[in-house]
Amino acid sequence: MVKICCIGASYVGGPTMAVIALKCPSIEVAVVDISVPRINAWNSYQLPIYEPGLDAVVKQCRGKNLFFSTDVEKHVREADIVFVSVNTPTKTTRGLGAGKAADLTYWESAARMIADVSKSDKIVVEKSTVPVKTTEAIEKILTHNSKGIKFQILSNPEFLAEGTAIQDLFNPDRVLIGGRETPEGNKAVQALKDVYAHWVPEDRILTTNLWSAELSKLAVNAFLAQRISSVNAMSALCEATGADVTQVSYAVSKDTRIGPKFLNASVGFGRSCFQKDILNLVYICECNGLLEVAEYWKQVIKINEYQKNRFANRVVSSMFNTVSNKKIAILGFAFKKDTGDTRETPAIDVCKGLLGDKARLSIFDPQVTVDQIQRDLTMKKFDWDHPLHLQPISPTTVKQVTCVWDAYEATKDAHGICILTEWDEFKNLDFKRIYDNMQKPAFVFDGRNIVNVDQLREIGFIVYSIGKPLDAWLKDMPAVA
Ligand code: NAD
Ligand code: UDX
Repeated sequence: MVKICCIGASYVGGPTMAVIALKCPSIEVAVVDISVPRINAWNSYQLPIYEPGLDAVVKQCRGKNLFFSTDVEKHVREADIVFVSVNTPTKTTRGLGAGKAADLTYWESAARMIADVSKSDKIVVEKSTVPVKTTEAIEKILTHNSKGIKFQILSNPEFLAEGTAIQDLFNPDRVLIGGRETPEGNKAVQALKDVYAHWVPEDRILTTNLWSAELSKLAVNAFLAQRISSVNAMSALCEATGADVTQVSYAVSKDTRIGPKFLNASVGFGRSCFQKDILNLVYICECNGLLEVAEYWKQVIKINEYQKNRFANRVVSSMFNTVSNKKIAILGFAFKKDTGDTRETPAIDVCKGLLGDKARLSIFDPQVTVDQIQRDLTMKKFDWDHPLHLQPISPTTVKQVTCVWDAYEATKDAHGICILTEWDEFKNLDFKRIYDNMQKPAFVFDGRNIVNVDQLREIGFIVYSIGKPLDAWLKDMPAVA
């Protein structure tokens, strides 16, 4: 029986390994992590991450050929293939490349541990998103300590998106495997191909050299984020001119050369992947003396920051230029629907902007806890992608913030509502009931374009929806930048 071990039991390691276990009954899969609470949760009924369809997959395999454990060394030692799916956040505070480069501390310590505990040859698979040429560095760590043991390193970046992880894994657009172009390298690539071939059609399993695989992952995230920043940039122009961004993006999407995906204007993209991977790309360009190329990609992030600021400014300027002591309901805090993940969610920046103007916030998200929200609002930028158990617990809480478990409670007596995550349940709220229980004039600021603007205006709301024609009230308010 082939044995697989995956280091890192989070959004990537957990679902990916669960699907491998489901699709490959002849393979034994162990997912390991240094976090005891996280592994305990994987072994319980309340999994540590919310992901539609994940429970069913885990339930089917756990205890048969899928195991979750904190005994990292034992499972690494026994494995034929070791996936490394640890966090690779943006380097914080100080040092070379701080604020841009990927922090490979977690990766390096995992590699050193693999080298130390291994007693047999292994294939080591880079699943985390890493800078180009990381494999080379990891290879040096492994071979330097190898005691005659042979390691083959492969790059196998993951393209799943949160909220749709299981369907993305069941039916991937492609699986990418990069390896050394040597007989041993080819053999290792084939071994990993054999795993995926249990359910992925062969023409969707692409093989490349190591650096192409690493760079392709950064390129995909940069291209996707670029589309969002492009449509968000258009949304600002739509508001200024009276065009409707939904109509514009629909017309654009009908061009078969462009296509329909990733053209929804929003309050900004979140999750650490886009920002951190683009910053990483920028840093690699700068290190290679490609300053113009670095500048080009930086703009994608700048527009994202602009969009979040623009939204918060719009809220304040619409409400007589002050939200001081006004209750604002925040509907949705996660970075997108169907996940509880809040890393780099635009909600953090919008809430901080409103808190800066002394608003009182009442926050409701169906999947995010009070502790998480308080932690996010007190945490420093770039600390998001460090595992919770490695983060200092902030002794302070933001007193102007309350978190509730119901949208009606959040909006009661509020002056305004900000919709920051596109949860389906927000589309079906009884807005008449909400309006009746709010202060007047009552405002809705839709950062995800999910409400029916005309219907809400008919009820009496003053409505702002990203990139949509402004109503008379908003037009009269000072322009926002
Ligand atoms: P995460 O940050 O949520 O979790 C990483 C886990 O690794 C933590 O549970 C941590 O405790 C564990 N860990 C760190 N060092 C360890 C060690 N030495 N031994 C054992 N466990 C260790 O990670 P994630 O969101 O699953 O992302 C993992 C990687 O995959 C990142 O490089 C990310 O960029 C990439 N990625 C993420 C996504 C996504 O949607 N989350 C998608 C594609 C790629
Ligand atoms: C992303 C990539 O899509 C995935 O391939 C990679 O493996 C990890 O990073 P993820 O961040 O989980 O996945 O979600 P995604 O669906 O890409 O959304 C990212 C952000 O962009 C979210 O905040 C989302 O709301 C926003 N978004 C997405 C838009 O604002 N508009 C869109 O049209 C699409």
